[in-house]
Amino acid sequence: MKLGQIKVVAVIGAGIMGHGFAQVFAQKGYSVFLQDIDEKILKSALARIGATLDTFIEYKMIPAKEKRATLEKIAVTTKIEDAVGKADFVLEAVPEIMDLKKEVFAKLDHFAPPHAILASNTSGLSITQMASVTQRPEKTIIVHGINPPTIIPVVEIVRGEKTSDETAETCYRLLLKLGKQPVRVLKEVPGFLFNRLQLALYREALYCLENGVATAEDIDNVVKAGYGFRSANLGPLETSDFGGLDTFYRLAKNLFPDLSAAQTAPAVLERLVQAGKLGVKTGEGFYSYPPAVAKRKIKQRDQRLLQQLKLFMNRGTKA
Ligand SMILES: NC(=O)c1ccc[n+]([C@@H]2O[C@H](COP(=O)([O-])OP(=O)(O)OC[C@H]3O[C@@H](n4cnc5c(N)ncnc54)[C@H](O)[C@@H]3O)[C@@H](O)[C@H]2O)c1
Repeated sequence: MKLGQIKVVAVIGAGIMGHGFAQVFAQKGYSVFLQDIDEKILKSALARIGATLDTFIEYKMIPAKEKRATLEKIAVTTKIEDAVGKADFVLEAVPEIMDLKKEVFAKLDHFAPPHAILASNTSGLSITQMASVTQRPEKTIIVHGINPPTIIPVVEIVRGEKTSDETAETCYRLLLKLGKQPVRVLKEVPGFLFNRLQLALYREALYCLENGVATAEDIDNVVKAGYGFRSANLGPLETSDFGGLDTFYRLAKNLFPDLSAAQTAPAVLERLVQAGKLGVKTGEGFYSYPPAVAKRKIKQRDQRLLQQLKLFMNRGTKA
């Protein structure tokens, strides 16, 4: 299956990731069928896509006329057979439960045309296992976007044991066409790349907080105004090349023994979760978010991410 043959796309599951990806495909002119088992979610998915497009227009990311053109490209349905019957590319985004993913993959295999690629947006389940219920394991693959997929450029591509070179190459090209930065994960490791790196930093941040090294605010500041600020332009390996590998060798030798090697989630996080302090969605987490503050902070986050996206787009698709 070559990139040029992909005209119709089906997205299965219209939640956080599914509705976002439906928008991404529709904005590039693909005919999209968005399917969910829940009528109400499909309705709210279209409203959420409309609202995101409004934000893009507000920040001059797209012309106003693109909203209508994008929405016209998306058809919603609760019937999987209607969603995938004419699809050339299917992206599954149902909840992270292997039995459910297998159930969905078996249906996709049954109802989608034999040439269609079946991709999963799983954050960490095995595509090889999902592929085992299909007759086309060579056409199955993980295409793992980051939330919100309408903004974050990187998408990880992870092959299963039987994924063909052609499927992997077509997905890579498809993501480039969508304006994304595809990354090939060469081994099916837990967490792929993004979450391994993200969680390594998160473990250390929690360790520093729990051990009174700094306040939550200063831990976040050191990332936003320091490590993260630079990381938007230089990856960790490039950073060490610029800083000198001899220096980073000594840093690694001296510091690695002292870094957190925690094997479980730390007490500071467990306490908050058990108290129902889940962050922005409950009004409190490491910080407090009364409703007006939460609204302002979400808007501010989106605005800053969109500014970053503009910079990213201006330097081309290659990071
Ligand atoms: N949320 C994130 O930050 C994030 C990031 C990257 C990857 N993912 C992965 O993406 C996938 C979806 O996550 P999400 O956060 O969008 O979940 P979600 O709960 O927001 O959405 C899942 C949707 O799937 C629907 N659904 C359930 N069973 C279905 C079925 N049999 N057929 C069709 N639709 C069905 C649900 O009604 C729901 O709307 C998961 O595998 C998750 O691990 C999530």
